[in-house]
Amino acid sequence: MQSIEKLKFLTESQVRTVAQQFGTPVFVYSREKIEKSCETALAFPNAYGLTVRYAMKANPNRTILEIMKRKGIQIDASSEYEARRALFYGFKPEEIMLTSQELAKGMKELVEKGVIFNACSLRQLEAFGKIFPGKEVSVRFNPGLGSGHTKKTDVGGKTSSFGVWHEDIEKIKEIAKKYDLKIFKVHTHIGSGSDPAVWKVVAQVSLDIAAQFPDCRILNLGGGFKVGRMEDEKTTDFQTIGKPVISLFEEFAKKNGTKLKMEIEPGSFLMVNNGAIVTTIDDIVSTGENGYKFVKVDAGMDVNTRPSLYAAKHPLVVVPKEGTHSGKTEDYVFVGHCCESGDLFTQAEGGGPITRTTGEAAIGDYIVMEGAGAYCSSMSVKNYNSFPETAEVLLGLDGSFQLIRKRQNLEQIFQNEVPVSL
Ligand SMILES: Cc1ncc(COP(=O)(O)O)c(C=O)c1O
Repeated sequence: MQSIEKLKFLTESQVRTVAQQFGTPVFVYSREKIEKSCETALAFPNAYGLTVRYAMKANPNRTILEIMKRKGIQIDASSEYEARRALFYGFKPEEIMLTSQELAKGMKELVEKGVIFNACSLRQLEAFGKIFPGKEVSVRFNPGLGSGHTKKTDVGGKTSSFGVWHEDIEKIKEIAKKYDLKIFKVHTHIGSGSDPAVWKVVAQVSLDIAAQFPDCRILNLGGGFKVGRMEDEKTTDFQTIGKPVISLFEEFAKKNGTKLKMEIEPGSFLMVNNGAIVTTIDDIVSTGENGYKFVKVDAGMDVNTRPSLYAAKHPLVVVPKEGTHSGKTEDYVFVGHCCESGDLFTQAEGGGPITRTTGEAAIGDYIVMEGAGAYCSSMSVKNYNSFPETAEVLLGLDGSFQLIRKRQNLEQIFQNEVPVSL
């Protein structure tokens, strides 16, 4: 029996206000909830100090980054563009660490400014050494095991290209020696939505790697903390997961004489349940008695790609446009507005429709898609079917709503196209 999902931070009346004030679809984020998540992350148990970096790929909106900055959160940037964006929003270079799959073309300039470079491959380390001999550098390792909420978000182990393979430590040492580099930080990140038990094992493996580098004074254990979106999904408790790791750091200090500072870099944890998408039901169609009842909303994979990409589940809550709920429930398939068979918000693993039980819905009612604060606005297949980028709104501490990103207009969608004479 599926449990009927509930709103996580908005009231029904606020849903109607947002929809009427800003139109739909629209993202809404709660400042209060983001600040609380920051506080929980900053209280992550640690032995000798902690830095929390926000994996800004989760949601790089300027206002969200500013909220994090005020809380003392630093930045994990996944590309030089993210690093530049964070600099533009006022983060100090030394508050930003660049961990990029591709060697940033602007690495030299960013490092000269003070951005921390996390070499993610032997090639990246060599390139850094050539430009900055004698300098300190961080290295990302693939610790040999990974864990994610799906195979697609598992970024550790032999099936993953992320980081230097743990058996290549000697090659790292050779490059470090060649360029007189000091490996001052070891970094691992094993996936998104990872299993807490695997996380503890990886912490030990990462400490063993750090022990091989005498200049190492910081261990970054990445992000990937599991966050439950649906009622029956669990969220990692930072106190539970973090406390056993304190003694691992203490043992390391006893054995190796270094009190390692810890870093974590959550993305999901800081944002997932602090954002929702308010959509409107555009249509309801059926494929007969033996078929399905489809609820079509005015958002799709261009607004939230996760269901199409990962068969990810987001809570879907019906809010009547006016009046109250009928008290009845129904099983629906929720579909997006893109002309694409895979644009399903309730998708079976491997593809195809699956039903979701919600309150009875009618055309014009609102569907609030919860758990949409991370990897939705930032990761969507924007502008597919030429739908404009969705507006974003912040629910402030005083209960008022402020626009933090305008809805894109049509001209902005094609502004970079260059007309040629044919
Ligand atoms: C290097 C790195 N750090 C941190 C994160 C954040 O992961 P999550 O949002 O699951 O916490 C990611 C996400 O892919 C990542 O690649």
